[in-house]
Amino acid sequence: MALAQQLEELAIDIAREAGELARRRRTEGVAIAATKSSIADIVTEADREVETLIRSRLVDERPGDGFLGEESAAERGTTGITWVVDPIDGTVNYAYGIPVYAVSIAAVSGEPEPSRWKALAGVVFSPPTGEMFHAARGAGAWLGGERLAVNAEPSPAGALLATGFGYNPATHASDLARVARVMPMARDLRRMGAASLDLCFVAAGRFDGYFERGLQPWDHAAGALVVAEAGGRFTRVELDDIPGRPLFVASGPALFDSLLATALGP
Ligand code: IPD
Repeated sequence: MALAQQLEELAIDIAREAGELARRRRTEGVAIAATKSSIADIVTEADREVETLIRSRLVDERPGDGFLGEESAAERGTTGITWVVDPIDGTVNYAYGIPVYAVSIAAVSGEPEPSRWKALAGVVFSPPTGEMFHAARGAGAWLGGERLAVNAEPSPAGALLATGFGYNPATHASDLARVARVMPMARDLRRMGAASLDLCFVAAGRFDGYFERGLQPWDHAAGALVVAEAGGRFTRVELDDIPGRPLFVASGPALFDSLLATALGP
Protein backbone atom coordinates (compact mmCIF):
# COMPACT_ATOMS: atom_id res chain seq x y z
CA MET A 1 0.00 0.00 0.00
CA ALA A 2 1.26 3.52 -0.79
CA LEU A 3 2.71 5.51 2.11
CA ALA A 4 -0.06 8.15 1.99
CA GLN A 5 -2.72 5.46 2.40
CA GLN A 6 -0.83 3.79 5.24
CA LEU A 7 -0.69 7.14 7.03
CA GLU A 8 -4.40 7.69 6.33
CA GLU A 9 -5.31 4.30 7.82
CA LEU A 10 -3.26 4.96 10.92
CA ALA A 11 -4.84 8.41 11.33
CA ILE A 12 -8.33 6.92 10.98
CA ASP A 13 -7.68 4.39 13.76
CA ILE A 14 -6.20 6.97 16.09
CA ALA A 15 -8.88 9.59 15.36
CA ARG A 16 -11.61 7.09 16.21
CA GLU A 17 -9.99 6.23 19.52
CA ALA A 18 -9.27 9.89 20.31
CA GLY A 19 -12.81 10.91 19.37
CA GLU A 20 -14.26 8.28 21.69
CA LEU A 21 -12.16 9.67 24.55
CA ALA A 22 -13.31 13.23 23.77
CA ARG A 23 -16.96 12.13 23.64
CA ARG A 24 -16.67 10.26 26.94
CA ARG A 25 -15.01 13.18 28.68
CA ARG A 26 -17.75 15.46 27.37
CA THR A 27 -20.42 13.33 29.03
CA GLU A 28 -18.47 13.52 32.30
CA GLY A 29 -18.42 17.33 32.21
CA VAL A 30 -15.85 19.76 30.84
CA ALA A 31 -13.49 21.99 32.78
CA ILE A 32 -11.70 24.91 31.14
CA ALA A 33 -8.02 24.44 31.93
CA ALA A 34 -6.57 27.72 30.62
CA THR A 35 -6.94 30.55 28.14
CA LYS A 36 -4.43 30.98 25.31
CA SER A 37 -4.11 33.80 22.74
CA SER A 38 -7.11 35.70 24.17
CA ILE A 39 -9.69 35.19 26.91
CA ALA A 40 -12.04 33.63 24.33
CA ASP A 41 -9.38 31.13 23.22
CA ILE A 42 -9.73 28.27 25.69
CA VAL A 43 -8.25 24.86 26.27
CA THR A 44 -10.00 22.15 28.25
CA GLU A 45 -8.43 19.26 30.15
CA ALA A 46 -9.92 17.04 27.46
CA ASP A 47 -8.00 18.85 24.66
CA ARG A 48 -4.76 18.08 26.49
CA GLU A 49 -5.65 14.50 27.33
CA VAL A 50 -6.80 13.73 23.78
CA GLU A 51 -3.65 15.24 22.27
CA THR A 52 -1.51 13.18 24.68
CA LEU A 53 -3.33 10.03 23.54
CA ILE A 54 -2.86 10.85 19.84
CA ARG A 55 0.78 11.71 20.33
CA SER A 56 1.60 8.56 22.26
CA ARG A 57 -0.14 6.35 19.67
CA LEU A 58 1.84 8.04 16.89
CA VAL A 59 5.12 7.61 18.78
CA ASP A 60 4.31 3.91 19.26
CA GLU A 61 3.57 3.36 15.56
CA ARG A 62 5.97 5.81 13.87
CA PRO A 63 8.64 6.88 16.38
CA GLY A 64 10.74 8.96 13.95
CA ASP A 65 7.99 11.29 12.75
CA GLY A 66 7.68 14.93 13.79
CA PHE A 67 4.69 16.41 15.62
CA LEU A 68 2.91 19.77 15.46
CA GLY A 69 -0.12 19.92 17.72
CA GLU A 70 -2.34 22.60 19.15
CA GLU A 71 -1.74 21.79 22.79
CA SER A 72 1.84 20.54 23.21
CA ALA A 73 5.39 21.38 22.13
CA ALA A 74 6.33 20.83 18.49
CA GLU A 75 9.02 18.29 17.69
CA ARG A 76 10.99 17.78 14.49
CA GLY A 77 11.28 14.22 13.27
CA THR A 78 13.85 12.29 11.29
CA THR A 79 11.59 10.69 8.63
CA GLY A 80 10.48 13.86 6.78
CA ILE A 81 6.86 13.23 7.93
CA THR A 82 5.17 15.49 10.49
CA TRP A 83 1.78 14.91 12.11
CA VAL A 84 -0.32 18.06 12.42
CA VAL A 85 -2.99 17.57 15.07
CA ASP A 86 -5.93 19.42 16.56
CA PRO A 87 -7.23 17.08 19.30
CA ILE A 88 -10.52 18.97 19.59
CA ASP A 89 -11.27 21.47 16.84
CA GLY A 90 -14.29 23.47 18.00
CA THR A 91 -13.21 23.66 21.64
CA VAL A 92 -15.67 26.45 22.45
CA ASN A 93 -18.55 24.34 21.09
CA TYR A 94 -17.23 21.40 23.10
CA ALA A 95 -17.07 23.44 26.29
CA TYR A 96 -20.64 24.69 25.80
CA GLY A 97 -22.03 21.26 24.95
CA ILE A 98 -22.71 22.09 21.29
CA PRO A 99 -22.20 18.81 19.38
CA VAL A 100 -20.04 20.33 16.62
CA TYR A 101 -16.39 19.48 17.18
CA ALA A 102 -13.84 17.17 15.60
CA VAL A 103 -10.53 15.42 15.95
CA SER A 104 -8.27 16.55 13.09
CA ILE A 105 -5.11 14.62 12.16
CA ALA A 106 -2.92 15.22 9.10
CA ALA A 107 0.39 13.77 7.95
CA VAL A 108 2.53 16.15 5.90
CA SER A 109 5.93 15.84 4.28
CA GLY A 110 8.62 18.49 3.98
CA GLU A 111 8.97 21.56 6.16
CA PRO A 112 6.22 21.55 8.83
CA GLU A 113 4.97 24.97 7.73
CA PRO A 114 1.70 25.33 5.78
CA SER A 115 3.11 27.24 2.80
CA ARG A 116 5.86 24.63 2.36
CA TRP A 117 4.46 21.26 3.37
CA LYS A 118 2.86 18.65 1.13
CA ALA A 119 -0.15 17.05 2.80
CA LEU A 120 -0.17 13.27 2.39
CA ALA A 121 -3.12 12.20 4.52
CA GLY A 122 -5.90 13.99 6.38
CA VAL A 123 -8.61 12.73 8.71
CA VAL A 124 -11.39 14.68 10.43
CA PHE A 125 -13.57 12.70 12.80
CA SER A 126 -16.76 14.11 14.30
CA PRO A 127 -17.50 12.21 17.53
CA PRO A 128 -21.09 13.51 17.94
CA THR A 129 -22.14 12.20 14.51
CA GLY A 130 -19.63 9.38 14.01
CA GLU A 131 -18.68 10.85 10.61
CA MET A 132 -15.14 10.10 9.46
CA PHE A 133 -13.89 12.35 6.65
CA HIS A 134 -10.60 11.17 5.20
CA ALA A 135 -8.26 11.59 2.26
CA ALA A 136 -4.90 10.36 1.05
CA ARG A 137 -3.01 12.34 -1.58
CA GLY A 138 -4.04 11.15 -5.04
CA ALA A 139 -6.64 8.69 -3.71
CA GLY A 140 -9.74 10.87 -3.33
CA ALA A 141 -11.71 12.22 -0.39
CA TRP A 142 -14.17 10.05 1.46
CA LEU A 143 -16.88 10.15 4.10
CA GLY A 144 -16.65 6.64 5.45
CA GLY A 145 -16.97 4.60 2.24
CA GLU A 146 -18.67 7.31 0.15
CA ARG A 147 -16.51 9.29 -2.27
CA LEU A 148 -16.81 13.06 -1.88
CA ALA A 149 -17.02 15.75 -4.55
CA VAL A 150 -17.38 19.50 -4.11
CA ASN A 151 -20.37 21.22 -5.68
CA ALA A 152 -19.72 21.99 -9.33
CA GLU A 153 -21.74 25.23 -9.25
CA PRO A 154 -23.63 27.08 -6.53
CA SER A 155 -27.41 27.06 -7.06
CA PRO A 156 -29.10 30.02 -8.80
CA ALA A 157 -30.26 31.07 -5.32
CA GLY A 158 -26.64 31.85 -4.43
CA ALA A 159 -23.85 30.05 -2.59
CA LEU A 160 -24.30 28.47 0.82
CA LEU A 161 -21.19 29.77 2.56
CA ALA A 162 -19.53 29.26 5.93
CA THR A 163 -17.13 31.43 7.85
CA GLY A 164 -15.51 31.84 11.24
CA PHE A 165 -14.12 34.63 13.39
CA GLY A 166 -10.71 34.00 14.88
CA TYR A 167 -10.05 34.72 18.54
CA ASN A 168 -8.02 37.87 17.79
CA PRO A 169 -10.36 40.84 18.35
CA ALA A 170 -8.05 43.00 16.21
CA THR A 171 -9.40 41.36 13.05
CA HIS A 172 -13.09 41.37 13.96
CA ALA A 173 -13.97 44.68 12.26
CA SER A 174 -12.41 43.53 8.98
CA ASP A 175 -13.98 40.06 9.41
CA LEU A 176 -17.40 41.71 9.58
CA ALA A 177 -16.64 43.94 6.59
CA ARG A 178 -15.73 40.78 4.66
CA VAL A 179 -19.05 39.20 5.59
CA ALA A 180 -20.85 42.31 4.32
CA ARG A 181 -18.97 42.12 1.00
CA VAL A 182 -19.65 38.41 0.54
CA MET A 183 -23.35 38.36 1.53
CA PRO A 184 -24.67 39.47 -1.88
CA MET A 185 -23.28 36.27 -3.45
CA ALA A 186 -24.63 34.05 -0.63
CA ARG A 187 -27.98 32.38 -0.23
CA ASP A 188 -27.03 32.16 3.46
CA LEU A 189 -24.03 32.06 5.77
CA ARG A 190 -23.16 29.50 8.48
CA ARG A 191 -20.74 29.81 11.42
CA MET A 192 -20.38 26.29 12.84
CA GLY A 193 -17.36 26.84 15.09
CA ALA A 194 -15.03 24.09 13.85
CA ALA A 195 -12.87 24.95 10.84
CA SER A 196 -11.92 21.35 10.09
CA LEU A 197 -15.60 20.47 9.68
CA ASP A 198 -16.28 23.62 7.62
CA LEU A 199 -13.65 22.41 5.16
CA CYS A 200 -14.99 18.85 5.09
CA PHE A 201 -18.49 20.20 4.50
CA VAL A 202 -17.17 22.05 1.42
CA ALA A 203 -15.64 18.75 0.27
CA ALA A 204 -18.99 16.99 0.81
CA GLY A 205 -21.00 19.64 -1.07
CA ARG A 206 -22.81 20.62 2.14
CA PHE A 207 -21.34 24.11 1.75
CA ASP A 208 -20.46 25.79 -1.53
CA GLY A 209 -17.59 27.70 0.02
CA TYR A 210 -15.83 28.76 3.21
CA PHE A 211 -13.65 31.70 4.20
CA GLU A 212 -11.98 32.61 7.47
CA ARG A 213 -9.05 34.68 8.62
CA GLY A 214 -6.40 33.53 11.08
CA LEU A 215 -6.63 29.73 11.10
CA GLN A 216 -3.79 27.84 12.74
CA PRO A 217 -1.98 25.02 10.89
CA TRP A 218 -3.79 22.28 12.87
CA ASP A 219 -7.19 23.81 12.06
CA HIS A 220 -6.80 23.33 8.31
CA ALA A 221 -4.06 20.73 7.63
CA ALA A 222 -6.41 17.75 7.29
CA GLY A 223 -9.49 19.56 5.97
CA ALA A 224 -7.60 21.32 3.18
CA LEU A 225 -6.44 17.97 1.77
CA VAL A 226 -9.99 16.61 1.99
CA VAL A 227 -11.17 19.64 -0.05
CA ALA A 228 -8.43 19.23 -2.66
CA GLU A 229 -9.06 15.51 -3.03
CA ALA A 230 -12.77 16.24 -3.47
CA GLY A 231 -11.91 18.42 -6.49
CA GLY A 232 -12.03 21.73 -4.64
CA ARG A 233 -9.61 24.60 -4.28
CA PHE A 234 -8.07 25.97 -1.11
CA THR A 235 -5.77 28.91 -0.57
CA ARG A 236 -4.09 30.94 2.15
CA VAL A 237 -3.33 34.61 1.51
CA GLU A 238 -1.26 36.85 3.82
CA LEU A 239 -2.94 40.23 4.43
CA ASP A 240 -0.94 43.40 4.99
CA ASP A 241 -2.76 44.98 7.92
CA ILE A 242 -2.00 42.27 10.52
CA PRO A 243 0.74 39.88 9.38
CA GLY A 244 0.51 36.30 10.57
CA ARG A 245 -3.31 36.28 10.27
CA PRO A 246 -3.80 34.98 6.70
CA LEU A 247 -7.15 34.65 4.96
CA PHE A 248 -8.23 31.12 3.98
CA VAL A 249 -10.73 30.39 1.21
CA ALA A 250 -12.06 27.02 0.03
CA SER A 251 -14.73 26.13 -2.53
CA GLY A 252 -15.49 24.28 -5.71
CA PRO A 253 -13.60 25.51 -8.80
CA ALA A 254 -16.46 27.47 -10.40
CA LEU A 255 -16.99 29.69 -7.36
CA PHE A 256 -13.41 30.00 -6.18
CA ASP A 257 -12.06 33.06 -8.04
CA SER A 258 -15.08 35.23 -7.35
CA LEU A 259 -15.29 34.16 -3.69
CA LEU A 260 -11.59 34.86 -3.17
CA ALA A 261 -11.74 38.24 -4.89
CA THR A 262 -14.81 39.28 -2.91
CA ALA A 263 -13.37 38.05 0.38
CA LEU A 264 -10.13 39.93 -0.25
CA GLY A 265 -11.96 43.12 -1.17
CA PRO A 266 -10.63 46.21 -2.90
C1 IPD B 1 -11.10 27.09 16.24
C2 IPD B 1 -12.29 26.65 15.42
C3 IPD B 1 -13.12 27.83 15.00
C4 IPD B 1 -12.34 28.85 14.24
C5 IPD B 1 -11.10 29.27 15.03
C6 IPD B 1 -10.28 28.04 15.40
P1 IPD B 1 -10.14 25.46 18.14
O1 IPD B 1 -10.27 26.00 16.59
O2 IPD B 1 -11.88 25.93 14.30
O3 IPD B 1 -14.18 27.45 14.15
O4 IPD B 1 -13.13 29.97 14.00
O5 IPD B 1 -10.34 30.11 14.18
O6 IPD B 1 -9.15 28.44 16.14
O7 IPD B 1 -9.51 26.55 18.93
O8 IPD B 1 -11.50 25.15 18.59
O9 IPD B 1 -9.29 24.25 17.99
